[in-house]
Amino acid sequence: MNNLKHGITVAVYPGSFDPVTNGHLDIIHRAAKVFDKLIVAVLNNTSKNPLFSLEERMELIKKVTRDLPNVEVDGFRDLLINYLKSKNVRLVVRGLRAVSDFEYELQMASTNQKLDENVETFFMTSTPKYSYLSSSIVKEIARFHGPVTDLVSPEVEEALRLKFPKTIT
Ligand code: PNS
Repeated sequence: MNNLKHGITVAVYPGSFDPVTNGHLDIIHRAAKVFDKLIVAVLNNTSKNPLFSLEERMELIKKVTRDLPNVEVDGFRDLLINYLKSKNVRLVVRGLRAVSDFEYELQMASTNQKLDENVETFFMTSTPKYSYLSSSIVKEIARFHGPVTDLVSPEVEEALRLKFPKTIT
């Protein structure tokens, strides 16, 4: 359970990533500099009815993190603490965009700590230019064929275009 004893610090960055945005990517880049290895863990949350399948979401994250050798992409469909146990990792990274994120994040971090006292959550504040950005906002803009160029990577932009094709009337 203690990844420090092996000399490398591994953290898990969990989320829905439906799809991965430049805000997520900002956290991934910065966390990858702090931890020796970062596992981006995508939740297969069928109850949320995601736009992208688990495989599609994982594939997009793999593409946009291909220049980061210490970043691994994985999926999970369980309680986060069980996933962490299966990977022998106890550190979690989450991004904080604004005060409005705090209550939910505090609840999640406290729940995870209650379920497993070894789990520690590290919060990284978003770079201000991404503080408003969310996957939901990106999907909303893309659904109406608005510009998402500055909000997501080109690969994600293309994937959104395929999900919301312009119909010729
Ligand atoms: O990107 P999101 O949707 O804000 O990520 C939320 C996520 C996936 C980190 C969270 O919902 C989660 O860990 N779900 C797995 C189920 C779980 O462990 N729940 C207990 C903690 S509240």
